[in-house]
Amino acid sequence: MTDPEIALGGLVQAALTAELGEAYAAADPLIRPSQFADYQSNVALSLARRLGRPPREVAEQVAAGLAGAAAVADAQVSGPGFINITLRDGWIAEQAAGQLADPRLGVTPAEPARRVVVDYSGPNVAKELHAGHLRATVVGDALVRVLEHLGHAVIRAAHLGDWGTQFGMLIEHALDLGEQATADQLAAGEFTAFYQAARAKFDSDPAFAARSRQRVVQLQAGEEQAMRLWRLLVDDSMEYLRRLYDRLDITLTDADMAPESFYNPMLADVCAELESKGIAVISDGALCAFPPGFTGRDGRPLPLMLRKSDGGYGYDSTDIAAIRYRLTELGATRIIYVVGSEQHQHLEMVFAVARQAGWLTGAATAEHAVVGLMTAPGGQRLRTRAGEQIKLVTLMDEAVERAEEVIKDRYDDPELRSQIAETVGIGALKYADLSVARDTSYVLDFDRMLALTGNTGPYLQYAIDRIRSIFHRAGLQPEHVTGPITLTGDPERALALRLLGFATAVGDVAATAEPHKLATYLFEVASAFTTFYEQCPVLTAEGSLRASRLALAALTLRVLSAGLGLLGIPVPERM
Ligand code: ARG
Repeated sequence: MTDPEIALGGLVQAALTAELGEAYAAADPLIRPSQFADYQSNVALSLARRLGRPPREVAEQVAAGLAGAAAVADAQVSGPGFINITLRDGWIAEQAAGQLADPRLGVTPAEPARRVVVDYSGPNVAKELHAGHLRATVVGDALVRVLEHLGHAVIRAAHLGDWGTQFGMLIEHALDLGEQATADQLAAGEFTAFYQAARAKFDSDPAFAARSRQRVVQLQAGEEQAMRLWRLLVDDSMEYLRRLYDRLDITLTDADMAPESFYNPMLADVCAELESKGIAVISDGALCAFPPGFTGRDGRPLPLMLRKSDGGYGYDSTDIAAIRYRLTELGATRIIYVVGSEQHQHLEMVFAVARQAGWLTGAATAEHAVVGLMTAPGGQRLRTRAGEQIKLVTLMDEAVERAEEVIKDRYDDPELRSQIAETVGIGALKYADLSVARDTSYVLDFDRMLALTGNTGPYLQYAIDRIRSIFHRAGLQPEHVTGPITLTGDPERALALRLLGFATAVGDVAATAEPHKLATYLFEVASAFTTFYEQCPVLTAEGSLRASRLALAALTLRVLSAGLGLLGIPVPERM
């Protein structure tokens, strides 16, 4: 099968070649959804100037060239030179049957495949994930799933914050507490309490602060006891992260941790390279890069701090080493940083230095996939009453608890009920995040995310459940259903046409690193299915009509399931 946008693009290009000549074949066909037909092409408007002819005239010529195509029922020129294109029902039906027979549902592997590093989630040792980590985690995980499905070689990288001056204080605090008590507290996930206690001592007790600074020096020198205690903190944190990722259905594993400490042995060499290339200079005793174009409010160039005046390294140093490693050692041709908007300037400066150094060249790209905030109603920061960050698990627990409330009347078996509530609650939380443009902020609203109607996780999960039950009642396995498909009315046609857009939706997510495009698409499919199901009897239809409608239902089921799978939204066995 072919996605209609892709098919029409090819047809427009063929018409350009036939009507205007080879030189125009490569023009972007500019296919867009249309209010007046299935699609429109805006190509005539873009070519008119180049041709020195009125756009409507060019449009007429291209429309004439499209007229004979098997896919096209009608091509009409409108407005200043749009070409409104209506597809032939028979063609849509044939493509849909083809899509049903295709295990990949029309999604073809990307050409060329790239080696993509996706830096996401951004966890830190000895700190819990809080509400702010949800988006960087969930959006990043949807991207890796989509990119992998398209055949890209994906390297997941969680830039685990496991290094830096705070570890001196954390180790000292662990020593004060005793190793066993530390392990017990951390195993219970009490990172915040642990961290805050260390912080409080550091701020109020000069002797403790001095010991902490001493301990950092030892740690950075690889001293044995310091290293052992540090390992303890890292291991306990990893244990906690594993559990959390597992429950959230996030595909990050231990092997995907790219901790800051990993880059430690490279830092001196990175500094030397940048210094010898003249990109880094000593400023007030520190080694700094001042990438052009970045200035502070006072107009002075902004530094990336590569080595502090005391010889220590920090967040900037590690990110510079990481980008060099990813480009020159891992051979990445695309790096996507799924990180909060507050780090935008930092990351842009890192990219600029990578370009200056000649690491980021040619077709290789680095991009900051900005994630915005989840806020409290009214746009305020999400905080507990005590003014603290809200833990991610707290959000998860609450979503699940409320999901149980929503579904409670449907199941008697408490075990089944809590199992389904878990899937519905976590799915709702993730979907709420994925369904809005990632760079905008949105209000945390449990009632909305758990609603059974509207663009929500439960609505899509429920749509899948409804379709499954059709097959259950028919006594059929949806996997075994095949075409042919015939379209007898608008609801069927609209559904089939929407289903054919799957490949475009998936491709758009990969190109723009914006998973909400797939979410929007799935919602449109589910809505088209709802209309279809209301207006077109399936099980009570007869003969070939029944078979065709079952085939459309089976295709809808497969597209929705595959799509939710790519977003990382779990689907309950039944609902
Ligand atoms: N751990 C960092 C934080 O909590 C986020 C890491 C983002 N990735 C990166 N390469 N800097 O802010």
